Amino acid sequence: MDKLIKEKLPRHVAIIMDGNGRWAEKKNLTRIQGHIKGIESVRNIVTFCRELEIPFLTLYAFSEENWGRPKEEVSALMELLKRYLIEELEEMDKYQIKLKAIGELSRLPLDVYETLIDIIEKTKDHRGMTLVLALSYGGRSEIINAVKKIIKSLSKRDINIDEITPELFSHFLYTNDIPDPDLLIRTSGELRISNFLLWQSAYTEFYFTKTLWPDFDKEEFLKALIDYQSRERRFGLTMPSRKLNQ
Ligand code: FPP
Repeated sequence: MDKLIKEKLPRHVAIIMDGNGRWAEKKNLTRIQGHIKGIESVRNIVTFCRELEIPFLTLYAFSEENWGRPKEEVSALMELLKRYLIEELEEMDKYQIKLKAIGELSRLPLDVYETLIDIIEKTKDHRGMTLVLALSYGGRSEIINAVKKIIKSLSKRDINIDEITPELFSHFLYTNDIPDPDLLIRTSGELRISNFLLWQSAYTEFYFTKTLWPDFDKEEFLKALIDYQSRERRFGLTMPSRKLNQ
């Protein structure tokens, strides 16, 4: 395997953690047990990113569409999320991990919402790495929310129409203080983006693996990083002109 080049690491990795249910099914376990195993992968990957000094990691933990799953599964996921947040605070303090969340957070059950806000507040001055959880998140809704906020700003004359640029638009998204992802990983063999970071992934490198999320370990993550480092990122330019612009 090629070696990892420290200088070429992505600044922001985003992950669609898919395949907990299939992992459980293969082992004759319940879907909830699959999610519990999935949390182990979350812990391993967060720690590994911190060790590698990757500044931003975004995890798609619960999509807007996931509200449509059976009630028992939704409640179990919410309970697991709350437990994860409470249990991880010590590690977040120790490794200086700052927690952020993106999505329609007001839809979360009140106890989960309050725990989340509490941990975000307690970790806000941490400088080691930013962990972003996408919760009740949908990319299209995020864009529509941004459009509504822009229309309000226009009607209050806080901005004028000529000021609306992609940069300004980005500031109205949930991710306004987070750089766009450099690398987006999806596990479990599905080849789609499923309403995740639609605006932000305009120039993101995609990496798809058949590995199911509970089996996604440090070694699998390294494979994704090494693959990413082999790509030539041109951002719509030719290579010489990109170098000139740097
Ligand atoms: C996809 O597996 C995964 C999810 C819907 C949620 C991911 C959640 C976790 C890893 C646990 C909670 C997260 C945190 C951050 C505490 P799936 O159920 O869609 O699997 P399938 O496609 O095989 O059915």
